Amino acid sequence: MSTGSCPVDHSASAATGCPVSANAAAFDPFGDAYQADPPEAVRWSREEEPVFYSPEIGYWVVTRYDDVKAVFRDNILFSPSIALEKITPVSEEATATLAKYGYAMNRTLVNEDEPEHMPRRRALMEPFTPEQLAHHEPMVRKLTREYVDRFVDAGKADLVDEMLWEVPLTVALHFLGVPEEDMETLRKYSIAHTVNTWGRPSPEEQVAVAEAVGRFWQFAGTVVEKLRRDPSGPGWMPFSIRAQREQPEVITDSYLHSIMMAGIVAAHETTANAAANAIKLLLENRTVWEEICADPALIPNAVEECLRHSGSVAAWRRLVTADTTIGGVPIPQGAKLLIVNSSANRDQRHFDNADAVDIRRENASDHLTFGYGSHQCMGKNLARMELQIFLEELTTRLPHLELVPDQEFTYLPNTSFRGPDHLWVQWDPSANPERGDPAILRRHRPVRIGEPSTRAITRTVTVESVEPAADGVVTLTLTDAAGNPLPPWSPGAHVDLDLDGLSRQYSLCGDPADTHRYRIAVLREPDSRGGSRYVHERLRPGSALTLRGPRNHFRLDPAARHYVLVAGGIGITPVIAMADHLRAAGASYELHYCGRTTRGMALLDRARRDHGGNLTVHCGEEGGRLDVTTLVAEDADGVQVYACGPQRLLAALEEQAAGWPADTLHIEHFTTTKRELDPSVEHGFDVELADSGLTVHVAPDQTVLAALRAANIDISSDCEEGLCGSCEAPVLDGEVDHRDVVLTKAERAANTLMMTCCSRACGSKLTLGL
Ligand code: HEM
Ligand code: FES
Repeated sequence: MSTGSCPVDHSASAATGCPVSANAAAFDPFGDAYQADPPEAVRWSREEEPVFYSPEIGYWVVTRYDDVKAVFRDNILFSPSIALEKITPVSEEATATLAKYGYAMNRTLVNEDEPEHMPRRRALMEPFTPEQLAHHEPMVRKLTREYVDRFVDAGKADLVDEMLWEVPLTVALHFLGVPEEDMETLRKYSIAHTVNTWGRPSPEEQVAVAEAVGRFWQFAGTVVEKLRRDPSGPGWMPFSIRAQREQPEVITDSYLHSIMMAGIVAAHETTANAAANAIKLLLENRTVWEEICADPALIPNAVEECLRHSGSVAAWRRLVTADTTIGGVPIPQGAKLLIVNSSANRDQRHFDNADAVDIRRENASDHLTFGYGSHQCMGKNLARMELQIFLEELTTRLPHLELVPDQEFTYLPNTSFRGPDHLWVQWDPSANPERGDPAILRRHRPVRIGEPSTRAITRTVTVESVEPAADGVVTLTLTDAAGNPLPPWSPGAHVDLDLDGLSRQYSLCGDPADTHRYRIAVLREPDSRGGSRYVHERLRPGSALTLRGPRNHFRLDPAARHYVLVAGGIGITPVIAMADHLRAAGASYELHYCGRTTRGMALLDRARRDHGGNLTVHCGEEGGRLDVTTLVAEDADGVQVYACGPQRLLAALEEQAAGWPADTLHIEHFTTTKRELDPSVEHGFDVELADSGLTVHVAPDQTVLAALRAANIDISSDCEEGLCGSCEAPVLDGEVDHRDVVLTKAERAANTLMMTCCSRACGSKLTLGL
């Protein structure tokens, strides 16, 4: 069936014929390939023809990350008004059936244009904020427990039918504040809706679906009326009814009726499907499943990776409101877009090794499964909470769960919502851990509300060797406990180790080409609070440690003409890795290594052996102190200095650097200059978010990061002390009071980036590209 005619003017391109490629002509989002694996089915497009016209559905299809995000970002040029339009035209009979029920579902947030949408989104947002969502955690956990209780001893279950379909629906009804007695009826009606909007039902099916949808609509209206009589209770609907009293022109009666029904649909199938996809994916990748069974702290990021890799919203829609180009392809006004966010999520240009399931992926939450910008899913943090709790309960109570082999997975044919109809799993109930240790049922971690923190991304490493490296210094060699390759790193990178309850940073000083080993050197600090003492006294070959990273905010700028490397004491560790790299690259460099005694200078033999001609040793005991005034000549353009060492040395270099060209000096900071916020000194200011259409107020005692999170804006963070650069945000307007140690002087002056965990506004407003 072809619903669209070719939009290209053939008279102009008669010589070459129709430019719709063979692949584009064959594209069928209802075909088996797309239904089985949407991102795989459009891999050809991601690679060769990222924006194409599909005659089959009459839509332009967009498949690359940057293009899909750009479309989501601009909700004026790319209107969301067709997001809920029936993709298969409705038969007259079905239309009449819907009319019989007074079906009038029209605009509800997700398909609304400006200027109507944003005032409503703002007015209805509060119940979705992390603070409010926290109240729902006990309810979600209790429901999940009850459903698992029902099958935990059975040895076999269809997780979709026995848990994943019903729990998100019941959670949605609680979230909406639907009275208990009406929940059952609403649950019955909900299913019909997906087929109605995104599927391709036959004419007879259309009438049956329309009957169910009509009844759903009518009943939703009855429930709204009931709540209206007493809107004092908890939940999104009572909240919206109260909001209507304040702003009747923004939230109308018919609007309340629509969001009642749309809210259930938005919250239910998306989450049920996402959960089924996630569990299927993790069980298909057994070692990953086992890792999260062993370390539940990995669950929040695993959820994000599952949403990226196998999300439940495969594609979304937008209408083009003016002639434009997407990815260089001219697109006419009035064109309809199918933006395949599941394909964007597998775009190699944005995600390294995009087809792999990597639960430690640092940018997993860049996925577009929740959309992006001013219409981004409002319920994303409720969905994340549900998925985390499902995974935590199942990995704790049924770690030995496995997929029933050879089952065939089927999907409800539709363009957008995606999840298996059934998910059969099996296990040996006699091996259920709770039979031996009922206490596991009382253990659980608090849910992480919001985007996962990269701080929680850990791996277990084993100490392979501990060797003396100098007086008071040992080198440790670490390998992945499961024997997997360790993540790649570049010179200057460090890792965080958990040592007896303390987190400590150590620079990597081994060979980046050795993908199975990390090497660090640890000085026993005389006034150690435990970290270095623990390393020296307790670690032995075979000891297990928790590691985070590697991370690098001390990177070599490849463009320098000449590199001056300065190491003081144990500061040699990142610096020697840099020197090795520069030597291998044939770059021009010199290495200055300062220490009090040569006996205390770790890696000195290696430095002499590998960097002899480029090395100057400045040994205090031998009267060889470094003179920082002679390091860089006055006309030293293109010279870069990289230094790591004691505070005294770094302070002397910083003083000297005042006379050097901007950004000559790079320092590895392991300590922050961040100070506590003193509300009597700080001022409040507004942050306007260009992509999300929101203005967020930052109070004098609040960080920008905290204010963004409270407004449901995803932003990652790690150190939260201005050290690591992970909370960076693009600045479009307004002057920033920079308080981090990540940005260079030139970057600060450019005023295009800020670290939201510590930096603030100089004036009363900043505009950020979020
Ligand atoms: C919008 C996905 C769960 C409520 C959206 C959009 C997507 C989406 C793709 C459109 C975004 C855009 O146009 O940029 C998902 C997924 C979910 C999920 C994958 C589960 C894994 C939920 C839940 C709720 C919810 C649990 C409610 C409790 C909404 C609302 C909007 C929305 C109200 C409209 C926001 C607006 O247009 O301003 N969702 N959703 N969603 N979602 Fe979700
Ligand atoms: Fe590390 Fe802000 S979170 S710099």
